[in-house]
Amino acid sequence: MNIKFYATLEQAEKSSLQNATVVVIDVLRASSTIVAAIESGAERIIPIADVETASRLVRPAERDKKLLAGERKCLPVPGFDLSNSPGEFTPARVRGKTLVLTTSNGTRAIAAAAKADRIVICALTNLPAVAAALREELEIVVLCCGAEGTIAAEDLFCGGMLLKSLDPAGALESLSDAARIARLIAEQFGSNAEAFVRSSDHGRKLVALGFERDVVFCSRIGASSSVPEVRGGVIVA
Ligand code: MLT
Repeated sequence: MNIKFYATLEQAEKSSLQNATVVVIDVLRASSTIVAAIESGAERIIPIADVETASRLVRPAERDKKLLAGERKCLPVPGFDLSNSPGEFTPARVRGKTLVLTTSNGTRAIAAAAKADRIVICALTNLPAVAAALREELEIVVLCCGAEGTIAAEDLFCGGMLLKSLDPAGALESLSDAARIARLIAEQFGSNAEAFVRSSDHGRKLVALGFERDVVFCSRIGASSSVPEVRGGVIVA
């Protein structure tokens, strides 16, 4: 298995996102929200890069079966049905529905990987299920989204945990610097995910904004067995 590892979306070479299996990681919170929505029975999720386009895709008359979801600057978007808090995406809210989702970084990363052979959404919550779903792959690109060009420690941690699951005996020397750092973080903090995620820049920001519950939710390694994938631009189970 050949694995390329990017610590931020901006680091990823466009050409390497084509004709490969791309694993998109945005632990806080887009990937975790997508996993929660699919786990709760959302029929499909349409990832959209900007708020205006997302709003245009849902007509008022369709609001019973199509919901608008997302955030900007971590906060709910006025007029949207759901924000980007994974705990909101319960079966009662989303089962059988189409969600149109726009987030600051996660949905941009999914759009950037549009020419990949396969796009898998990975969070800590579905990490073991994703690792199992990737076992037969030969070329994998791990794409940590980061936050507007900067590294997000929780994404690196999740990427490192994935590397560890895919190749437990893998020699550190054979990894790129970003992958090696990610793997070392995973080895150091793997047994204390919540504390690590909570102490990240984005974790602290979310706690300060009143979203501590989301940080706890997103830190539960293996809580879900859903493996959302993007097919024809739409995220499905
Ligand atoms: C993003 O896509 O940047 C995140 O999901 C931001 C957030 O925490 O809502």
